Amino acid sequence: MQMKTISWRLYQEVRPYCWHLAALFLVGLLGAPLSLLTPVPLKIAVDSVIGTHPLPRYLDVILPAAVKTSQGALLALAAILVVVLAFLNQLREFASSVLTAYAGEQMLRGFRAKLFHHVHRLSLSYLDSKGTADSIYRIQYDAGALQNIFITGIVPAVSSVITFVSMVYVTARINWKFAAVGLAVSPLVLLVSRHYRVQLRSQSHKVKNIESSTLAVVQEVLGSTRVVRAFGQEEREEGRFMEKSNEGMQARLQQTLTEGGYGIAVTLLTAAGMASVLYFGVGDIKAGKLSLGNLLLVMGYLSQLYTPLRTIGKKMATMQSHFVSAERAFALLDAAPDVIERANPRSLTRAMGDMVFRAVSFSYENKGQPVLQDISFNVRSGACVGIVGATGAGKTTLMNLLTRFYDPTEGEILLDGVDLREYKLADLRNQFGIVLQEPILFSTTIAENIAYARPGADQNRIVAAARLANAHEFIIRLPDGYDTLVGERGMRLSGGERQRLSVARAFLKDAPILILDEPTSSIDVTTEAALLEAMERLVRSRTTFIITHRLSALKHCDIVLRIERGRLVAIESGHPDDIAVVKHRL
Ligand code: GTP
Ligand code: MG
Repeated sequence: MQMKTISWRLYQEVRPYCWHLAALFLVGLLGAPLSLLTPVPLKIAVDSVIGTHPLPRYLDVILPAAVKTSQGALLALAAILVVVLAFLNQLREFASSVLTAYAGEQMLRGFRAKLFHHVHRLSLSYLDSKGTADSIYRIQYDAGALQNIFITGIVPAVSSVITFVSMVYVTARINWKFAAVGLAVSPLVLLVSRHYRVQLRSQSHKVKNIESSTLAVVQEVLGSTRVVRAFGQEEREEGRFMEKSNEGMQARLQQTLTEGGYGIAVTLLTAAGMASVLYFGVGDIKAGKLSLGNLLLVMGYLSQLYTPLRTIGKKMATMQSHFVSAERAFALLDAAPDVIERANPRSLTRAMGDMVFRAVSFSYENKGQPVLQDISFNVRSGACVGIVGATGAGKTTLMNLLTRFYDPTEGEILLDGVDLREYKLADLRNQFGIVLQEPILFSTTIAENIAYARPGADQNRIVAAARLANAHEFIIRLPDGYDTLVGERGMRLSGGERQRLSVARAFLKDAPILILDEPTSSIDVTTEAALLEAMERLVRSRTTFIITHRLSALKHCDIVLRIERGRLVAIESGHPDDIAVVKHRL
């Protein structure tokens, strides 16, 4: 991404917080006069208390005669000024840090929320190919860039520039020669910064990529602890983790070395400036062209003049890493969802449930191997459709198209006579009660898991759904009943129990179309029979798709679609006894 594009987009993101930034900026500006005043007490002490020079003009005007004429009073004034200035400075820093935290956290929260919102619309293929850890890293870590760039970068940099300019001005008023020396080094500092910037940027890219892939290893291993332990692969996984960590360490060390080299270069340049002022300054004092107090004042200003210069320089180094982060966060926002909602989508309250597939073909990858080819069939509202076929035939994929997890590559799917792509996505997905092939639960109570699609559903409906799914008996036998916590991804339950809960969840949703992807694969035959019996009534009133390898489940189906290697090869009757009714080869 071009630097200009990143900057423009950063600006867009930060616009809502312009008042926060303005306040922060103002507090930053107060730094300049305070810095200008800091060496003044020393000058008074040296020139007017110890020496006999007159007071600076602005002090001469405001001070009462009694103070001006007494050396003791002047010394006391200088001492008091030291304390007051220190206090004011600290007060300013306090206000600045509170404002920084407040504005920064607000920005961070807003940007993270935006990224998180976008993740829900990202295409599943993006998440599958990039890995979830990468998105986690971008949301959790890279999002901080916005805050870092503006709050700890640009605002102080702008104040630094202003401080710098005012320091140059004041120094020039005292002695233009020294101001010129101070200025002479600054273009050199900027030149050095430019040179290092490119290097730091590419190093930051590398560091972030490695860090996010380290996170991916941790996430994957923790998510599959059981498999890792069962196959005794702890050491190998540790090795994988260490390898990534080592890479990360090396990249970060390299980055630190570059930053260090840069720091040294900047310091050398500014020290050279100071040295020349000291050298020529002493000469001027000896020649009687400058007072000692004024030399000290100029030296004080110069060291402060270089502070903002160094700050700007240093910022430029760390900024590179933040810009890289911003680029990564924007890249996540740019990842286009491949399932896109129409500009004026149709809304849909409750579908009838008529489904038509018209010459549907699909492949997961662009121009990849087709997973489904030329599939056409009609399903009347209220029908129960069985889907059978060998593993890998494309059954789950067919259902993924129904819910628009993906869109067909060719052909169209109609619901109630209208292409799925015409509907509002949220409305469309609301028409389906789904039991996924791999039941996924959330780490909360059983009741809340069942009521996932209908938060706040009353207890009676939850129990009714659980009964239908043949889960009620096992739930009430648990010590906490419906309030039992199921653990991460439901790991504290057995496979069959998890499956029945996800069936109950689909039932409770009370949607007009049910999709059951092998809902009984982990359930024994007796429980399955009871479940199917209970389902019978529910299934009658809605369009149902049931994928299964078990003949017993097909008994309830009106028609059975047989899929082989992505093609629909037969539509058969679900009732084995009356084969003659519908069976025909396509
Ligand atoms: P079983 O569930 O095992 O009975 O198989 P299925 O009929 O449900 O097969 P599914 O529709 O899941 O997969 C069909 C083909 O698509 C298989 O060859 C998979 O390799 C492939 N496939 C499934 N999911 C993905 C995916 O997310 N990405 C890609 N690239 N290919 C996929
Ligand atoms: Mg499947």
